[in-house]
Amino acid sequence: MQPAGEGVDGSAAKGDGDTLESGGYHRDSNHTHMFSGVTIKITLMLVVVGTTLLLLNQSSNPMAFFRNHYLNANSFSFPQYMSPIPPPSSLAKDEKMELEKTLRSATMKDNKTVIITTLNAAWMEPNSLFDLFLESFRIGNGTAHLLDHVVVGAFDETAYERCKAAGLHCYAVTTEGVDFSGETKFMSEDYLKMMWRRTDFLRVVLELGYDFVFTDADIMWLRDPFKKFYKDGDFQIACDHYWANYTDVSNSPNGGFKYVKSSNRTIEFYKFWYNGREYFPGKNEQDVLNMIKDKPFIHRIGLEFRFLDTAHFGGFCEPSKDLDEVITMHANCCIGIQNKMHDLTMIINDWKRYMALPPSNRNSTIRSWTVPRICG
Ligand SMILES: *[C@@H]1O[C@H](CO)[C@@H](O)[C@H](O)[C@H]1NC(C)=O
Ligand SMILES: *[C@@H]1O[C@H](CO)[C@@H](O)[C@H](O)[C@H]1NC(C)=O
Ligand SMILES: *[C@@H]1O[C@H](CO)[C@@H](O)[C@H](O)[C@H]1NC(C)=O
Ligand SMILES: *[C@@H]1O[C@H](CO)[C@@H](O)[C@H](O)[C@H]1NC(C)=O
Ligand SMILES: *[C@@H]1O[C@H](CO)[C@@H](O)[C@H](O)[C@H]1NC(C)=O
Repeated sequence: MQPAGEGVDGSAAKGDGDTLESGGYHRDSNHTHMFSGVTIKITLMLVVVGTTLLLLNQSSNPMAFFRNHYLNANSFSFPQYMSPIPPPSSLAKDEKMELEKTLRSATMKDNKTVIITTLNAAWMEPNSLFDLFLESFRIGNGTAHLLDHVVVGAFDETAYERCKAAGLHCYAVTTEGVDFSGETKFMSEDYLKMMWRRTDFLRVVLELGYDFVFTDADIMWLRDPFKKFYKDGDFQIACDHYWANYTDVSNSPNGGFKYVKSSNRTIEFYKFWYNGREYFPGKNEQDVLNMIKDKPFIHRIGLEFRFLDTAHFGGFCEPSKDLDEVITMHANCCIGIQNKMHDLTMIINDWKRYMALPPSNRNSTIRSWTVPRICG
């Protein structure tokens, strides 16, 4: 029994290479270029043999083959596509145990879920972003208890100590030979290293079996997001711009806020994503996410995205319009700690003013933001 839709699709003579499973193989069925077809087959065979040897050599992970195969077969024009992909930096065993211990003490008991942020010293100066972040949980509606489940991935010693002093769960995210303590300039080399280190770290959290909400510390938590997350979906992410609907990859995701459930799909996705840094030098993880979000690999592993509406998960790029609806507000579209601080302080004040009034007195002025002012 063929579902009706499939028949229609099949007869609609789509351009080849357009379908999910296509890749290089699909082109072979189009007998016009017999000779080049044979050449492609031979090349592919060599690629398969080469990849297998590589695999035998360095990895027992079958998905690595998948990944290499995918990269070859879908004509990404990476000049270095045949070079071995180095395995993602793995944590030493005792570091992993330490992380597991931290996650275990921070987790929500019923569902192995933690809230993670990563920070360096510059963001944790007294009266800086970190304080606004913590304050938002305290003045948010039904968010104070969530602080018990926050894990701070500290990029340097100062950050680690400030985290401890704040009474949170802390874990040192180390990177050999790199000092991440200062304010890193957006898209500088150290900034990129830090962002990719974060991606790698989050994969390990998934591998340890924990679901997480990752949040940048320039996001104000004003309501409990768990009430608004989709029940299904592997990888839910906030957006700079929410153009379409919640499954549509044409939305512009923002890596600063995401809810990811631990599964083989999400772990493989994180590996795939992390490997992107080799192929797209100079790009950050968000740029790479945008490049890979609609690739056939995603469909093959069955990963489901959910894009979160800015009406609830807003930011300065596209502020939510109604304080009755807002859950989080992100200082995105804003570069520099001082600028972020300025407008986030206004957010906090708007929220306090809104919460101070009885619901019947919250008119449309009170229910909207006075931001962005410097940002946006
Ligand atoms: C997980 O459990 C906590 C309570 O321990 C609850 O607040 C939260 O909403 C739950 N999350 C999910 C995704 O069910
Ligand atoms: C705060 O949360 C309570 C309990 O869920 C709810 O009844 C109330 O309407 C909420 N207030 C606002 C301003 O969202
Ligand atoms: C969401 O957008 C996608 C892609 O444009 C479309 O295929 C799908 O039908 C839409 N879903 C809903 C619920 O509108
Ligand atoms: C991943 O897949 C393996 C084998 O199919 C299964 O045993 C394991 O439980 C899965 N892990 C997760 C986190 O889903
Ligand atoms: C809305 O309420 C505030 C505070 O109660 C008040 O100052 C303001 O004039 C009101 N705005 C409108 C348009 O009613």
